[in-house]
Amino acid sequence: MSSAPVSTARIANPEFQARLMDAEAAASLIKPGAVVGMSGFTGAGYPKAVPLALARQMDEAREAGNPYAIKVWTGASTGPELDGALARAKGIDFRLPYNSDPLVREQINSGAVQYFDMHLSQVAPAAWQGFLGPLDVALVEVSAILPDGSVVPSSSVGNNKTWLDRADKIILEVNSWQHEALHGMHDIYYGTALPPHRKPIPLVTPSDRIGQATFRVDPSKVVGVVATDIPDRNAPFKAPDASALAIASHLLDFFQNEVRVGRLPASLLPVQSGVGNIANAVLLGLMDAPFEPMTAYTEVLQDGMLELLAAGKLSMASCTAFSLSPEAAERLNGEMALYRDRIILRPQEISNHPELVRRLGCLAMNGMIEADIYGNVNSTHMMGSRIQNGIGGSGDFARNAYISIFMAPSTAKGGAISTIVPQVSHVDHIDQDVQVIVTDQGLADLRGLSPKQRAEKVIANCVHPTFRDQLADYYARALRDSYGKHSPSLLKEALSWHQRFIETGSMLAK
Ligand code: COA
Repeated sequence: MSSAPVSTARIANPEFQARLMDAEAAASLIKPGAVVGMSGFTGAGYPKAVPLALARQMDEAREAGNPYAIKVWTGASTGPELDGALARAKGIDFRLPYNSDPLVREQINSGAVQYFDMHLSQVAPAAWQGFLGPLDVALVEVSAILPDGSVVPSSSVGNNKTWLDRADKIILEVNSWQHEALHGMHDIYYGTALPPHRKPIPLVTPSDRIGQATFRVDPSKVVGVVATDIPDRNAPFKAPDASALAIASHLLDFFQNEVRVGRLPASLLPVQSGVGNIANAVLLGLMDAPFEPMTAYTEVLQDGMLELLAAGKLSMASCTAFSLSPEAAERLNGEMALYRDRIILRPQEISNHPELVRRLGCLAMNGMIEADIYGNVNSTHMMGSRIQNGIGGSGDFARNAYISIFMAPSTAKGGAISTIVPQVSHVDHIDQDVQVIVTDQGLADLRGLSPKQRAEKVIANCVHPTFRDQLADYYARALRDSYGKHSPSLLKEALSWHQRFIETGSMLAK
């Protein structure tokens, strides 16, 4: 499949026009073993035509007995035309940072792909610091190239500024499916530097603009420009289930109480909301809540936030990417004028920057895989060893938030797994970074509590009834028999729930 014929009207600079080529020709410029910095963040703004062409070239090379794989750096997860297609062609041998593609996940967990998971705010700084090694190619989707050669970003910003600055060669996909009115919605900050030259980032409210609307791109590095007209392929919206609605309701009660007792202002503080079903349920719940006008300083803008913006409950949202269902993406494109001045898209090192999250006092709400009775949280690994997606921005926000909240249904896999366990099988967020845990059963406010006080609250409020006695029994014996009495633990038994699941398919003791 070729990406032509599509309009090239968005490529308004002659120097860039001169590099116009089809996707096959651009893909052939990416050599086996290359390190490629791709655009893309949760199904928004990823290159679509060149990776597909590259995957075809990889298939042909493999069939001819010449395995052909590359190292892929991105903003976060991408779409099926990128991660999915390259993985099917066995074309990825290294991947960073966040991934949610099922086939890439399978290849990581089978050991075929090396995966480096890292805090999303740290990817660009690590690249600048030289910690990740050289970057051969930047393959970046943009929405237009202006007559003066400046480049209008697409529906996500992610690490693109850094890839464009750091790579030896640049390939641009100019996607005319992306709305023209995106021009002006981005805020690309060029003020970051390496220590000892770092300065405070001059952003004090979520609506501040501290940068420019376009990327600077050195035309001498541009080896290919490909015109496309292909929609972003985001995940479909899943209506919140009963468990997500219960979690949202506990959380909204909590916020109302925080306002009542004066620990939060009536319009709350800037909200950060993670990905998925539960996050959307919380956002939809905020539609009927009395907090307004709210703001968001977050990583991704989901369907629920668009609704809040449309209703005027949210006055503005700052993010690095859209993470919308196909219907919501169409709605955004159809009503761009309505949203244009209320959304700012920033590089992910700024959307997730610890300095800014701390300064703004974000309310961080993120999903988790499991938590333990002391409030340590696992966001990434099943049974301690199988990666699900990655830490994403949850650590950027959790450690620095005004209030750091983690949420999950109290059970998984049809009730065979308790998401509240004696000890998490992998730690992403230490107990000091976790202030509130919410499940469908209830909410545990852990602020200011000792480990034993935390354990009692988590067992009383968050555990599913099927597992409550089993967990209470573990804790009682740990209190009695533990080596130390500060954070009671039975070392031989603390991970036995996970081992039991691996061996029997259930964490429930017979
Ligand atoms: N043990 C084993 N499997 C579990 C589990 C547990 N404790 N909890 C959930 N699962 C399984 C589910 O059964 C489901 O499996 P399936 O896909 O085979 O059906 C899968 O994990 C996903 O669970 P789900 O409840 O649908 O999760 P979600 O979509 O709400 O995502 C996270 C939860 C933790 C995976 C997700 O929030 C995430 O990736 N977080 C890390 C990154 C992050 O927080 N980003 C936002 C920061 S800005």
